Amino acid sequence: MITGATGMFGATLSKYFQDNFEVFATGTKDLNFDGIKNFMAFDLSSSDYSKLIEWSKPDTIIHAAALTNGNYCEQNPEQAFAINGISLQKFCKAIPEQTQLIYISTDAVFSNDKHLANETDCVHPESVYGKAKELGEFFLRHSNCDYTIVRTTIVGKNLNKNKQGFVEWIVNSSSAGSEISLFDDVLFTPISIWNLAEHLEYIINNPTAFSRKTFHVAGREICTKYQFGITLLKSLNLPTGLVKRGKITDFEDRAKRSTDQTLDCKRFEEVSQRQLPTLKQTIQELKDHYDEAN
Ligand SMILES: NC(=O)c1ccc[n+]([C@@H]2O[C@H](COP(=O)([O-])OP(=O)(O)OC[C@H]3O[C@@H](n4cnc5c(N)ncnc54)[C@H](OP(=O)(O)O)[C@@H]3O)[C@@H](O)[C@H]2O)c1
Repeated sequence: MITGATGMFGATLSKYFQDNFEVFATGTKDLNFDGIKNFMAFDLSSSDYSKLIEWSKPDTIIHAAALTNGNYCEQNPEQAFAINGISLQKFCKAIPEQTQLIYISTDAVFSNDKHLANETDCVHPESVYGKAKELGEFFLRHSNCDYTIVRTTIVGKNLNKNKQGFVEWIVNSSSAGSEISLFDDVLFTPISIWNLAEHLEYIINNPTAFSRKTFHVAGREICTKYQFGITLLKSLNLPTGLVKRGKITDFEDRAKRSTDQTLDCKRFEEVSQRQLPTLKQTIQELKDHYDEAN
């Protein structure tokens, strides 16, 4: 079962796993794209998850649903804690211990001063979004569940045409000739949603090595959001002249977000014997998916 199937990552996961698994997909709204056979609308703020579990009878759950808008989380902390945190406690109560539960978490559980955070570093979230995701991790660690926490920093494309994520905003703005500002003081280690889906498949098929553990699964190269945007636009042969260098520190009203979102993923590479992508590979995957859509 995949939660968040109407969102950027959950939608791609639901499609990706269709070939080799029986996928049960869920989100709050109805799907507005094709290719997913089993879908049920379900609000994760509900108190009882038994209807969802009885419908899907999952061997594995990938929990990709979340309230991801940092400003919205800041203004609606109860909702953020309910969906991003307490949902994990409810899943643990609703599923048998042997159900594999993969929780998609985030770099936002770390504080600003952590460069290339690894799995042994202390978490110290500074935003409501990060605190709520960390609460979800807390429930898993204190449960009897067969969980894997995957902290990541994803970039990709929405199958839902009405949604616009970070990448689409950059591409659409350039195509429309609109000026945008990208942070040149924010570092991250992006991985594409398609690449991460492959690593999740490996985790599902090799559960023992990952059971009751936390892994960082992101890109192996660091860049700023500005560098990422310029490289992406150049690869798509789109104009870069209207992309300005911005500073996150200039946005006082914004929800607090770390200027260093980098993750050290050596542990995952060692355990899985798999290489995580370079920036060039991540940009190429985005380009391939944009080319395919055109
Ligand atoms: N995008 C990033 O930069 C990033 C970075 C690190 C980690 N992550 C994590 O990766 C995961 C996927 O992110 P994403 O970018 O794909 O997010 P997204 O596009 O915002 O999608 C979020 C999904 O969560 C669902 N959802 C929200 N509230 C819900 C509720 N009350 N009940 C049931 N479903 C609910 C949404 O359903 P509806 O649309 O139907 O309401 C949507 O399907 C999240 O867990 C996020 O924390 C994301």
